[in-house]
Amino acid sequence: METNISKTPQAVAEAFASHFIALAKANETLSVALSGGSTPKTLFDLLAEHHGKSIDWSRVHFYWGDERCVPPTDGDSNYKMTVDHLFSKIDFPEQNVHRVLGESEPDQEALRYAEQITDNLPSADGLPQFDLIILGMGGDGHTASIFPHEIKLLDSTGVCAVATHPESGQKRITLTGKVINNAKEICFLVTGAGKTEKIDEIFHQAGEWKSYPASYINPKEGKLTWFMDEAAAQKL
Ligand code: 6PG
Repeated sequence: METNISKTPQAVAEAFASHFIALAKANETLSVALSGGSTPKTLFDLLAEHHGKSIDWSRVHFYWGDERCVPPTDGDSNYKMTVDHLFSKIDFPEQNVHRVLGESEPDQEALRYAEQITDNLPSADGLPQFDLIILGMGGDGHTASIFPHEIKLLDSTGVCAVATHPESGQKRITLTGKVINNAKEICFLVTGAGKTEKIDEIFHQAGEWKSYPASYINPKEGKLTWFMDEAAAQKL
């Protein structure tokens, strides 16, 4: 496991963007599962505005590590956020975007998306293997849409599962822990003082670390890097 600590969220995005560009150049095709939330917006804006031509986007296939069960036009949609901050600003083959159908019935969509991922990606240890999974971490230690109250989704046998947001009750589709940990590479992007305590507990295996799903993200054979700003990493 590696850490890459930068001064500011913008610098974190720049550090990760450099890594992502190198990965895209080194791989004929790159299957990447994106995270949602607010942190990736800085990265997507940066990629779109400064690296739109640095990457042969036809090599990159976009999936999501989790998606809210809402229509693609909904302000909560991780897909819509990615369109607004990245896809609307770069030239890429539309067929390379494999979105979760947030507008569909959740249980059916979890099965459909799992089948799409399984059909499209190579398999390792009997599970689909992403080249790269980008993850965020919530203030409660969740990652993707595996929340502490549903930590069992780390060990689900399926590729995808239906999750429930603990406060809003919003249904989500999430990759399960086994598929996440089957990736060739996992990169966390975590910024802000709101994440300091959880990062401290996870890295020092202290406090309530065992109840945080993010604590269990560690690719079996792949590479794990935490890209953080100084605020999130200030207790390391
Ligand atoms: C989502 C994300 C989720 C996110 C964390 C961190 O759909 O919300 O995939 O796992 O990465 O909640 O979100 P922020 O980047 O907004 O802190």
